[in-house]
Amino acid sequence: MSFAEELNAHIGNEYAASQQYVAIAVYYDQETLPQLAAHFYRQAVEERNHAMMIVQYLLDADQPVVIPGVEAPQTSFGNAVEPVSLALEQEKRVTTQIVELVKLAREEGELVGEQFLHWFLQEQREEVASMTELLAVVERGKDNLLHVEEHLGRAAPDGASPLEAGAPPVAGGAL
Ligand SMILES: [Fe+2]
Ligand SMILES: [Fe+2]
Repeated sequence: MSFAEELNAHIGNEYAASQQYVAIAVYYDQETLPQLAAHFYRQAVEERNHAMMIVQYLLDADQPVVIPGVEAPQTSFGNAVEPVSLALEQEKRVTTQIVELVKLAREEGELVGEQFLHWFLQEQREEVASMTELLAVVERGKDNLLHVEEHLGRAAPDGASPLEAGAPPVAGGAL
């Protein structure tokens, strides 16, 4: 597949990530862990925005855009640590997918597309780091998850990060 086709296919990976985070948020909501739920509801929206950034890029590049279907997310978990482990695996997998897209862009001389993806590389670095940190917090607090809830409640709210300021435009506007 061409770079544009592979990039289009990645819309599905970002939406699958979004659906997975909704499923994780719902799991924590059912477990009455509202801070963990809120964290993943927010992550789900971010992944949706990533998908729609790619839609906007393809529109701007005058390439065909085909909105793909997504694989069903995992919805049941054995304990409160599992969803965060799954989320970290997912972030690492998406990082690999973005790296492959960057390599393909280079091969095809698609330097505008490569530049578009540089923001995603930075974003993945940040997301892998923050999910690694959350996994450590949840593992440490697994015997009393209220400690995890307190930790998340104290953490600085997602303000305007420099990454957000430099984010690519989102088709239809960022949520
Ligand atoms: Fe993403
Ligand atoms: Fe992500």
